[in-house]
Amino acid sequence: MKGIILAGGTGTRLYPLTKVMTKQLQPIYDKPMIYYPLSLLMLCGIKEILIISTEQDLPNFKNLLGDGRHLGVKFDYVVQDSPRGIADAFILGEEFLSGSPSMLILGDNLFYGDYSPFRQAIKKQVSDFKEKKSSAHVFAYAVSDPGRYGVVEFDSETRRVLSIEEKPKKPKSSYAIPGLYLFDETVSQRARHQAPSPRGELEITDLMATYLNEGTLKVETINRGMAWLDTGTPKSLLEAWSFIAALEERQGLKVACLEEIALRMNFIDKNGLTQIIESIPKGPYQHYLINVLQEARSGQEVRDAIF
Ligand code: TTP
Repeated sequence: MKGIILAGGTGTRLYPLTKVMTKQLQPIYDKPMIYYPLSLLMLCGIKEILIISTEQDLPNFKNLLGDGRHLGVKFDYVVQDSPRGIADAFILGEEFLSGSPSMLILGDNLFYGDYSPFRQAIKKQVSDFKEKKSSAHVFAYAVSDPGRYGVVEFDSETRRVLSIEEKPKKPKSSYAIPGLYLFDETVSQRARHQAPSPRGELEITDLMATYLNEGTLKVETINRGMAWLDTGTPKSLLEAWSFIAALEERQGLKVACLEEIALRMNFIDKNGLTQIIESIPKGPYQHYLINVLQEARSGQEVRDAIF
C-alpha cells in the first residue's frame, strides 16, 4: 500500500495567505498543515508516500520533509502544473504507484481520533489486491451541511454504495465523503480515461463512479468519535488551530509529531531519534522530542496517545 498526499490547488478561499505560500504549508497551531495528513498515513503503516504540489511550492515541501529517510519512510515528489482535479493525482502518480493499491489523502484534511476504520479499510483493500479483486474504499462521515461535499447513500448492511452526488441541492443522506480514499491498482488507468467535468476538472466523484457502476465501491462509516476538519477557509483554519491547541495544551502530547510517530511505529529506533534531536533547533519542539526519547529509553509504558 502506497500513499499520496495531494497538496497543490489554488487556495482561493485563503487568499492573500496563499499568495506566496500554499495552503498545506500554512501553520495549524505549532506545525505545518501537511504534517497532519502525513501523520495519518504513517500511523496507518504507510512508508512510501508521494507528495504532489505546484511547481512554485514543491521545493518548499522538499526543504521541509526531505527524502524521508530520517523518519524511516520514503518521500517522492511530483509537480502538478495546473489544478486539473483530485483524480489527476493518479495520473501524476502512476509511475510511483507502479501497480500498487493506494491511499490518497487531501493535504488540507485533518482527522483526529481512533484510526482503526482506516487501518481496517487498508487491510480489506490489500486482501482484495491479493485475491485480484477490483475494489475501492471510501469513508462516510455525518455532517450538518452535507450539500458542501460529495454525498454518499449506502446500504447499511452490505456497505455497498447506492449513489454518490457531488454537492447536491437535496442530499440523499447526511453522509459526506472526506478527502481520504483507497483505490486498487487500476485507478491510474481509469483516471487516464476520464473526461474533465464542466468545471474542467478530473473529478474524484467520477472516478469513484467507475467502481460504483461495477458494484465494487465500499464505504466505511466513521463515527462521531473521530474529528474530521478541513482547513480551506480562514474560519476553518482558526477552528483547526483552536482544536489542536486545546488538545495539546490539555494532554501535554503533540498531535501529528512526525518524529514521535516514526519512533512509536518502529520506523526509526532511539538512535535515529537522537540524531534528529541533535539536528534541530533548541526549543519547545526539541524539548518535546527529548522527553519522548527519555520515556522510550527508560522503558516506561508509553502513554496511551492517539495522534
Ligand atoms: P480544494 O479545497 O477543492 O481547492 P483549493 O485547495 O485549491 O482551495 P480553493 O477552493 O480555496 O481554491 O482542494 C482540496 C485539496 O486538493 C487541497 O489540498 C488542494 C488539493 N488539490 C490539488 O492539489 N490539485 C487539484 O487539482 C485540486 C482540485 C485540489
